[in-house]
Amino acid sequence: MKFDFDKPVNREKTNSVKYDLRGRLFGKEDVMPMWVADMDFRVPPAVSRAIKERARHEIYGYTIRPQAFYDAAVSWMQRRHGWPVETEWMTFTPGIVPGVNLAIQALTEPGDKVMIQPPVYFPFFDAVRKNHRHLVENRLLLKDGRYHVDFDDFERQLQGGVRMFILSNPHNPGGMVWTHQELKTMGELCVKYGATIVADEIHCDIVFDGHQYIPMASISEAVASKTITFIAPSKTFNIAGLASSVSIISDDNLRKTFNEMVGRLHIWHGNIFGTEAFRAAYEQGDQWLDELLVYLRDNLSLVEQYTRERLDGIELVRPEGTYLAWLDCRGLPLEDEEVHRFMIERANVGFNDGASFGDNGKGFQRLNFGCPRSTLEKVLDNMEQAIRQVH
Ligand SMILES: Cc1ncc(COP(=O)(O)O)c(C=O)c1O
Repeated sequence: MKFDFDKPVNREKTNSVKYDLRGRLFGKEDVMPMWVADMDFRVPPAVSRAIKERARHEIYGYTIRPQAFYDAAVSWMQRRHGWPVETEWMTFTPGIVPGVNLAIQALTEPGDKVMIQPPVYFPFFDAVRKNHRHLVENRLLLKDGRYHVDFDDFERQLQGGVRMFILSNPHNPGGMVWTHQELKTMGELCVKYGATIVADEIHCDIVFDGHQYIPMASISEAVASKTITFIAPSKTFNIAGLASSVSIISDDNLRKTFNEMVGRLHIWHGNIFGTEAFRAAYEQGDQWLDELLVYLRDNLSLVEQYTRERLDGIELVRPEGTYLAWLDCRGLPLEDEEVHRFMIERANVGFNDGASFGDNGKGFQRLNFGCPRSTLEKVLDNMEQAIRQVH
């Protein structure tokens, strides 16, 4: 490998959410942080070079986002995912969670029904509730080790007047890379009942062998006309701290309404370094990503091996994409509410507690395996020893 993903990098005292909030969140400063979704890998050299070059200039006044910024994203989506999009369809947003909130504000009214699919990325709950919209849950069904959409319920909820559906594709935390058929059914039902689709596709570049990311908006013209897609290099290249993402909207009216909201809040500036990193990543990040995918696949195999052979009572919902492993801990001789604390106290590992992803996430923990192999081995060994004590 050309890039070194094995080398641990000390992130303590860098104001890192993952590391420097441990005392506050887990009650332990030294817990191994396997939670929030950023990776412990250095970014591609081309990205750090671009940032350093811009930093050297030493004037950081108001700047524009050049055409090359959008062209880089267009080219990336075409060459990596075969999805032809146009620069005019894109709008900068300072992160995808802000983008999802903007979409809710721009396209629905207080009291409107907005549907999500728990267990799901917890900021979706807040985005609906804190904007005073009515939360509708289309709960996913876990069957044979994979989550599935309950399509009957999906349609029933739409019939009940859902105005917007927020999709996570690939899905966080379940790791499903939704198939063409699944997307088609969901997309066409949304078209039929007039619901806008917010497709959060932030994890689209991290997909494992045998699966293929398909953009919701690529399903058909009709589905595209109802869809706001969000993409970003932030998960893929570990630059979430630079808060730079784009929306992609092919429908003129939908885009106009969304862009008016973005314009009203005057958030188009973003930041200079985000612009440079975004562009460099999408222009030059291919090889780094190809190697990362191999490394993550091997990390996932390790998690799989441990859950199969050594972590009695824990089952892996095997992710098809993302660097997040959703661990079903309901087989442990513990109450669901105890598992999270148990992992902190006995294994010295800090996961995301499944309950934060919705009621049907209780008894699960989310493990972020975007880390050096040695870290992951230590975490899994710690878990094995802790679990031995309770069986
Ligand atoms: C599904 C999903 N959407 C959005 C985000 C965060 O996006 P941003 O940092 O651009 O707001 C994450 C981060 O984990 C995520 O998993």
